[in-house]
Amino acid sequence: MIQRVFRDLTIMVNLSVNIGKLKLNNPVLVCSGTFGCGEEFKDLIDLNKLGAVVTKTITLNSSRGNPMPRTIETPCGLLNSIGLENKGIDDFLKHKLPLLNKLKTAVIVSIAGESQQEFETLAGALDRQAAVDAIELNISCPNIRGKTKLIAQDSKATYRIVRAARKQTKKTLITKLSPNVTDIVEIARAAYEAGCDVLSLINTVYGMSVDLNRRKPHLASKFGGLSGPAIKPIALYMVYQVAKAVRLPIIGMGGIMTVQDALEFILTGATAVAVGTANFINPKASIEIIQGIKQYLIKHKIKDIKSLTGTLKICNTRSN
Ligand SMILES: Cc1cc2nc3c(=O)[nH]c(=O)nc-3n(C[C@H](O)[C@H](O)[C@H](O)COP(=O)(O)O)c2cc1C
Repeated sequence: MIQRVFRDLTIMVNLSVNIGKLKLNNPVLVCSGTFGCGEEFKDLIDLNKLGAVVTKTITLNSSRGNPMPRTIETPCGLLNSIGLENKGIDDFLKHKLPLLNKLKTAVIVSIAGESQQEFETLAGALDRQAAVDAIELNISCPNIRGKTKLIAQDSKATYRIVRAARKQTKKTLITKLSPNVTDIVEIARAAYEAGCDVLSLINTVYGMSVDLNRRKPHLASKFGGLSGPAIKPIALYMVYQVAKAVRLPIIGMGGIMTVQDALEFILTGATAVAVGTANFINPKASIEIIQGIKQYLIKHKIKDIKSLTGTLKICNTRSN
């Protein structure tokens, strides 16, 4: 028995993964918008243990976001219409990046522009920052006032924006896709052809919640984006479809609360995973998931997490 425990403890498992040019110490990230720029969590967890910190989406100018109320809990989910509240890129570079610069873990900065030119300016500004390891293009936020169509709902617009950002940076470029589409593979292909290195999916799912007493929507902006366990099956389905069709590493997200959830995404084709809504319930969720993945690998005598990616066994009786 003692011998066995000793043997298990000495099994070295490799948790590192590559996304684009970036090597991550482990495959567990946090989802943009659920982790601030790291400072809110720095006293609760060791940020250096994460595969990467992903910032709240940063815009060119400061934005107050949408009117309140802008979050409401729903069965198995959270509906939000925050709307990219942030103080803009200059404030980010001056006040947020210095903390991120001290981290040993990778730093991914999420950006959104109101135009192609804004995406270019943001990508160019971040390209000049040594502390930034990768840029994530948020072309899929469902909560931008006045926007009827998302960039990520249009393959030509996706191509145009990703291409424009690509010309501004040699850093790893990630494109975040929306589940609010008919065919996510078509959009993923457009991002790939435009030169993106990594795909991130999924952003939140359009949703609505009704206050029966007031006979009004709960959210001031009527609609929002649904996250949490309710969307996990949708996210898994989309990760599976995109992984089959496009040869890019995927960061899978949507309802990951436990190590089991994370491993399901990896089996389905995700190279890395990101923890979002779970951070609000348990700030240590991402760290527990990293430990859980390690234990799973040891238990199943798997030496390298990479050998698990996309190994879901599919019954041959159906083509899909
Ligand atoms: C409160 C809240 C704010 C979010 N803000 C952003 C954001 O700024 N940028 C972004 O790309 N995604 C944002 N998202 C979407 C998440 O990054 C993630 O894609 C989504 O919530 C699915 O993961 P989850 O179910 O684990 O939360 C936000 C989600 C929530 C719940």
